[in-house]
Amino acid sequence: MQARETFSGRFAILIAAAGSAVGLGNIWRFPYLAGQNGGAAFIIIYLICVFLLGIPLMMSEFAIGRKAGRNAIGSFRSLSPGSYWYLVGFIGIVASFVILSFYSVVAGWTFEYIYQLAVNAFQNQSPQQISNYFDMFVTGNLRPVLWQVLVMILTALIIYSGVKNGIEKFSKIFMPLLLLIIIILDARALFLDGSGEGYRFLFTPDFSKITGTTIITALGQAFFSLSLGMGALITYGSYVKKDVNLGMTAIGVSIIDTIVAICAGLAIIPAVFAFGLQPGEGPGLVFKTLPVVFQQMGGGSLFGTLFFILLAIAAITSTISLLEVVVAYMTEEFSISRKWATFSSGLAITLLGVFCSLSNGILSQYKILGLTLMGLCEYLSSNILLPAGGLCIVLFLGWFYPMQLVKDELSNQNTLRIRWFGLYHFILRYFTPVAIILVFLNGFGFFYWL
Ligand code: TRP
Repeated sequence: MQARETFSGRFAILIAAAGSAVGLGNIWRFPYLAGQNGGAAFIIIYLICVFLLGIPLMMSEFAIGRKAGRNAIGSFRSLSPGSYWYLVGFIGIVASFVILSFYSVVAGWTFEYIYQLAVNAFQNQSPQQISNYFDMFVTGNLRPVLWQVLVMILTALIIYSGVKNGIEKFSKIFMPLLLLIIIILDARALFLDGSGEGYRFLFTPDFSKITGTTIITALGQAFFSLSLGMGALITYGSYVKKDVNLGMTAIGVSIIDTIVAICAGLAIIPAVFAFGLQPGEGPGLVFKTLPVVFQQMGGGSLFGTLFFILLAIAAITSTISLLEVVVAYMTEEFSISRKWATFSSGLAITLLGVFCSLSNGILSQYKILGLTLMGLCEYLSSNILLPAGGLCIVLFLGWFYPMQLVKDELSNQNTLRIRWFGLYHFILRYFTPVAIILVFLNGFGFFYWL
């Protein structure tokens, strides 16, 4: 086995984990969910989910990873030898495959739109034509596949370069750029005539819009957005030095992730209102509604290109965290070289991703459980694999693993004061499992049948 790499310090893990967390989930999914679920009211519920449930789970993943110093499966094998808990890590490996295969497809779309906006291709088109372009593009087979393959090649190159020279370096260069772009876009939205209605939508809660499904959607989104439930942060945690404050890191990452999600909403929703459009389009909000906004906005080609560059950066700092889960597992458990692990797992995921992409086009008539392959991958991951993984992680640390050892890890062997530990442990034991089970039941359509 090769010697394990580490991140160079506490800033490096903060920025790498924030890179994993900040992704399509923040900039593509969060604004459209807020748009569909009543704006401010959804955001408030989301914040409660992040701070009450997300942060404790993130601390737990970091603690497991750092204590064991292994990959997602190996960590459970090392903390609980001879038990079946390693299967939790196995869920994580499957989840990385499934998430990365559809995630890389959407990431590929962002590259298509960087290109289209940079050449100002929508200049003389009607809103209907612009929105039709998206449907034509995703159902046309070759282009989305090529972009998806490009995303996977980029991801694999970064992962092949290693933890420090790949993940850490890429995140350190591109995360600040991402923050800069989002500030520029927020400022642009502020100066649009008629954006006021958008801010009202984002800041005036209408609690009549809140239903059980809203709460559960918010919780599922919180887990997805924070990269929880499948061992990505166990894997990153295993590269963290022993003197880093894990609790503070989890809080920092969650705050950055939340700020970016809200800033994405502040860039998108007011602009949508300013041009008399509606934010309830759903998944097409970013790819169908926004290009119409950019076409009509002064400097739209520039700001549009910047916006899709922002999405692409956010996506790549997340795809690398998904691939690292598999690569860490293969190199450590089977002593395969990093090169071959990256190449073979990258190739397998690319293939699954190609089928996902084609399931919007020539393969769209093949349905599994009424869903296209891409729809199925998305459904499986956010409704089943992530909650299942998250549930097992909290049950393991909350009920099976000795509490004192968790405390030792989070307090760096009693060198940090962690007065919050009691609250953390209480939430972990009682609150998170119940909440996750509710998400689960909802994913299976349980409340629908009730
Ligand atoms: N958090 C990322 C986003 O918001 C996606 C992601 C990366 C992820 N790694 C993950 C989600 C692990 C779940 C688990 O886009």
